[in-house]
Amino acid sequence: MVVVRLVNVTKIFKTGVVGVKDINLTVNHKEFMALLGPSGSGKSTTLYLIAGIYKPSSGKIFFDDRDVTNLPPKDRNIGLVFQNWALYPHMRVYDNIAFPLRIKKLPENEIRKKVLETAKMLRIDKFLNRYPWQLSGGQQQRVAIARALVKEPDVLLLDEPLSNLDAQLRISVRAELKRLQKRLGITTIYVTHDQAEALAMADRIAVINNGRIIQIGTPEQVYSKPATIFVGGFLGNPPMNFVEAEITEEKQGLYMLLSGQKLTVPKHYEPLVRKAGLRKVVVGFRPEDTAVIPECRETGECIKGRVYAVEPMGREYIVVVDLGGDLVKAIVPRSLVLIEDQEVCVCPSLEKLVLFDPKTEKSLETLYAEKT
Ligand SMILES: Nc1ncnc2c1ncn2[C@@H]1O[C@H](COP(=O)(O)OP(=O)(O)OP(=O)(O)O)[C@@H](O)[C@H]1O
Ligand SMILES: [Mg+2]
Repeated sequence: MVVVRLVNVTKIFKTGVVGVKDINLTVNHKEFMALLGPSGSGKSTTLYLIAGIYKPSSGKIFFDDRDVTNLPPKDRNIGLVFQNWALYPHMRVYDNIAFPLRIKKLPENEIRKKVLETAKMLRIDKFLNRYPWQLSGGQQQRVAIARALVKEPDVLLLDEPLSNLDAQLRISVRAELKRLQKRLGITTIYVTHDQAEALAMADRIAVINNGRIIQIGTPEQVYSKPATIFVGGFLGNPPMNFVEAEITEEKQGLYMLLSGQKLTVPKHYEPLVRKAGLRKVVVGFRPEDTAVIPECRETGECIKGRVYAVEPMGREYIVVVDLGGDLVKAIVPRSLVLIEDQEVCVCPSLEKLVLFDPKTEKSLETLYAEKT
């Protein structure tokens, strides 16, 4: 039963590089938290701070009410899986898995029982006599996870554990790992730069960029209500579209002008646009929430553009449309026949639009929440 809590944690390396800044993060008991961000954003740094491999320059780390900030890794009862798995090449699989228990000086018969049990669970019990180099990547990765789990850790820390596997294997292993985590009920922090992995596996996602946590929420929350343009652009494949628009006021209400064409400001956004006194906004809309209409006579809540490219993706097509300089993407059914340079209407679903402040790049909801 462990809740992991980081309070105002900052790590500045001896070189002066800021690893992470002012991290506040609570990972609940049994929760699967993904730390998602681009390369160099501070994901591994955060994980190693939780593991005790790095000491924070300031701030505190708690496991439940216990302050572990100054405890070495061995006193934290964590299981850690590194990106490259870091198996001991000169040891057989059995001894690799047994290693953490031998450090704890458990009796050999007890070690044997636990190693066999864990190996069975990860379906590597047939390979216990092999050396790591005699295994496939997927099998080695299971050994690394077995070694982390064998000591029944309070907290499981995984640093991009699937990144060395091929795309197919990654997808099958991620489902297995998710089931295993739920079955064992270990508080888990999972580092990844792969947004699809984070969305598929995590209970909650902490999006990190430039050493700072930008947003924490369920996959649904971070996906449909991104707190910043960065988050909207980092999640989704293809990511969210962004187009700058001018705000105009008419008798009926507020409108947005996108390359000279009008879209209504959704009702729930009106007070936020007014309160922030914005003359311009960035309109965010997801490709799958965007319709493309070939015969575009009525200009309802649509913007005219020209087909720039059509990308068949098997199950559906991605259409790239040029809206007078801004390229946006829409996912359309295969049955819709479109050709390059054809004039079309792009109609984003108004309920699902997200509006951002061009200056701070924050969503208006976030901007408003911060001000109140
Ligand atoms: N031991 C170190 N000494 C100095 N700087 C470091 C050290 N470790 C990381 N950094 C720097 O801290 C920043 C964050 O690095 P970190 O390893 O946490 O990134 P990451 O999000 O894990 O990236 P990746 O996805 O590439 O693994 C980077 O600018 C990196 O160069
Ligand atoms: Mg890393």
